Amino acid sequence: MYNFNDGIIPSFFIIMLQGKKILLGVTGSIAAYKAANIVRLLIKAGADVKIIMTESACNFIPVLTLATLSKNKVLTHLFEEDTWANHVMLGRWADVMLIAPATCNTIAKLANGICDNLLQAIYLSATCQVIIAPAMDEDMWLHASTKRNITNLQSAGNIVLAVNNGELASGLLGEGRMAEPEEILILLSNYLQKEKDLINKRVLITAGPTHEKMDPVRFIGNNSTGKMGIALAKDCAARGANVTLVLGPSFEIVPNNIKLINVESAAEMYEACVQIFDKIDIAIMSAAVADYTPVIIATEKIKKNDTNFTLELKKTVDILKKLGELKKENQILIGFALETENEKENALKKMKNKNADFIVLNSLRDAGAGFGLNTNKITIFDKAGNEFSFDTKSKEEVAKDILNTIIKK
Ligand code: CTP
Repeated sequence: MYNFNDGIIPSFFIIMLQGKKILLGVTGSIAAYKAANIVRLLIKAGADVKIIMTESACNFIPVLTLATLSKNKVLTHLFEEDTWANHVMLGRWADVMLIAPATCNTIAKLANGICDNLLQAIYLSATCQVIIAPAMDEDMWLHASTKRNITNLQSAGNIVLAVNNGELASGLLGEGRMAEPEEILILLSNYLQKEKDLINKRVLITAGPTHEKMDPVRFIGNNSTGKMGIALAKDCAARGANVTLVLGPSFEIVPNNIKLINVESAAEMYEACVQIFDKIDIAIMSAAVADYTPVIIATEKIKKNDTNFTLELKKTVDILKKLGELKKENQILIGFALETENEKENALKKMKNKNADFIVLNSLRDAGAGFGLNTNKITIFDKAGNEFSFDTKSKEEVAKDILNTIIKK
């Protein structure tokens, strides 16, 4: 994490934010005091900042503070004396509209197209990327209505920042704290830096293990954590893609800007994938799917007895292979191959048999590659016979290598 405490902004942020037009919407949350620091950092980084405050935000932080820091008049109402705030032009002026803090109420209004104040009108007129930093108490954050509103905002193309866990206005501890100004600055800079080379692309990613039930308390699984697939999903989203992640049982955190479908078994993962594959541009199958599943799932716990126990297994559907059969010309399909011997030969065989366009090989014989680690070592093969080898890197960097290779081809 960058440290801004000494008041010096690292040059990366200045390069990214210099001259950028940022429209900051501030709403009525206790976290509104942090808006002062956001504005301070943005101005220091050379951005041009215009601010809109809701009436309720003015109860939490003085207009004068934000006007002074931003060096611009702060707008609060659609009509002021004899002037009309031109929300359409403001919405078109900005490179990015940031709403921080965004209260539960504002989020609900944004998600439903309500237009009863200047901030809502500008949001509805904005042609730029909108980034929303929610702030509320945990119960409100976890409420089904809020979840639905967040999903709606994301599917409308907005970026919704994750909330932090910590002290809340209620005095309770929990989820709902707005991201810190420094985190917001990093995200904004990353957003502005990213080559948006996957804008409007729909990406499907499978990740994690599958659990194949034997009885109500047991399953057959594997050691996959889902880290590689989640890193891919994050990088695709950052490049502007609309990402759906079909994730087997995993303890990893998935950011809000990724559409998450949680599944348990190979059969559920297959169903989730085929339902949407038709509308997908790029599918990356990084999940460690069980190849076999019990023929019968016992309804009661299987009791031990004095003899050996034999479990009859049947094959699961090979999701990658099925998608390879359904694949149309304009779709790109990427598989993974986890091997322990004859790595290249096996990987190439899988790419051909499953009709994938690329196969990403990781060998368990390489140190730093495999389940649960934060690093991976890969070689990518494509249909044309090309081979791209990479050193051991963090899974985030590996994700970038995979996507750069695919996009370049
Ligand atoms: N895969 C899949 N559905 C399955 C099994 C595998 O979609 N039922 C996908 C994986 O997500 C991966 C690729 O197929 O992208 C290869 O998986 P891997 O486990 O390496 O190979 P398998 O085809 O299962 O063959 P084997 O286990 O014999 O190596």
